[in-house]
Amino acid sequence: MNALRGKKILLGITGGIAAYKTPELVRSLIKEGAEVKVVMTPSAKEFVTPLTLATVSKNPVLSSFIAEGNDNPKWNDHVALGLWADLFLIAPATSNTLSAMAHGRCNNLLLGVYLSAKCPVWVAPAMDLDMYAHPTTQKNISQLTSYGNYVLPVGEGALASGLEGKGRMLELDTILTYIKSHFTKNKPLFKKTILLTAGPTFEAIDPVRFIGNYASGKMGFALAKEALLLGANVVLVSGPTIEKIEHPDLTLISVVSAEDMMNAVQKVFKKVDIAIAAAAVADYKPIKSAVQKIKKSNGDLTLQLTHTPDILAYMGAHKKNQKVIGFALETENELENARTKLLNKNLDGIVLNSLKDKGAGFSGSTNKITYIHADLTSHSFPLLSKEECAKHIFEQILAE
Ligand code: CTP
Repeated sequence: MNALRGKKILLGITGGIAAYKTPELVRSLIKEGAEVKVVMTPSAKEFVTPLTLATVSKNPVLSSFIAEGNDNPKWNDHVALGLWADLFLIAPATSNTLSAMAHGRCNNLLLGVYLSAKCPVWVAPAMDLDMYAHPTTQKNISQLTSYGNYVLPVGEGALASGLEGKGRMLELDTILTYIKSHFTKNKPLFKKTILLTAGPTFEAIDPVRFIGNYASGKMGFALAKEALLLGANVVLVSGPTIEKIEHPDLTLISVVSAEDMMNAVQKVFKKVDIAIAAAAVADYKPIKSAVQKIKKSNGDLTLQLTHTPDILAYMGAHKKNQKVIGFALETENELENARTKLLNKNLDGIVLNSLKDKGAGFSGSTNKITYIHADLTSHSFPLLSKEECAKHIFEQILAE
């Protein structure tokens, strides 16, 4: 909570469609404790209004060298703005602005602030896929990086042009993770590799049907973000989810079934320092998945199920100087069942959530957890966001 308390963030907005997301970005930065000021290029005003940004940031929004609508024109001091900020984030940064920054052009206030800023400058590019892939854009990005600017990667997916590919501005959540990690001084997981399993698994019945569960992947992704903040390299093996994450220190391996998840885990487990199994792995799968769609018939249909591999038990049995942490979702005799799981699977800790607690479990955005250590001592936490839970889980792991 409040990872950006007291930090001054200057947000530079340029004229790309992703500018419509920036009021939300301002809100999120403020929620994390930051003070935010906004500087925009004139064309950014076509996509989002200064009034909206001034309202959410609670600060005047500047876009020209001379204060507008004033009988006694006043110089907007770009130097002062650059000196005020602890971090200057340009998001979205169009190819035009990237090029102007790389070549030292100064035909708007935002570029003036950039050229005079003393603080770290972060850039979140956003453009169409061919523009992003173009050698001049890539050269401009390398140029900017060589000047000490931090150019964030782009996201992949639907673009305003209707095309699909690399060029979207990173998800706001991911931008926030980057910024928070920049201000996190103590990075206890630096040079450590963390393996996380997340999400549900889907076990195919036939080409169109599966056995699955309501897991959202939120808890595993929150753990991944927290591990990144703490400086770790993260391998995230996730079942089907709508959650998104991109970070240079993160490898995302997307899987569907428990068997896929097991294969992915077995490939990387030896190299990791800590493994946390947050996935809601299906315990059973159909003995045989039909090659063709099963047609409706008059009689009942019986599915014969068999066990899926227990990924957590595998890690517990094969660990060597590694920590393995599991999750236990229980509905009765919670502490006792979770402790038994910890012992049976040879774990170093287990995170218990009870379905009896309102707001806990794997589908919502909150959780109520009890962390049980290897010596069976436990710490219970109130109902919290999954991000807060992730923080506490790492505190418990690192306290051992
Ligand atoms: N788990 C796993 N592989 C499986 C089943 C579970 O890695 N095939 C992991 C989960 O990621 C979680 C832990 O085991 O960390 C506990 O899962 P849970 O379903 O609560 O326990 P089970 O061992 O499956 O036992 P039960 O369903 O009887 O409670």
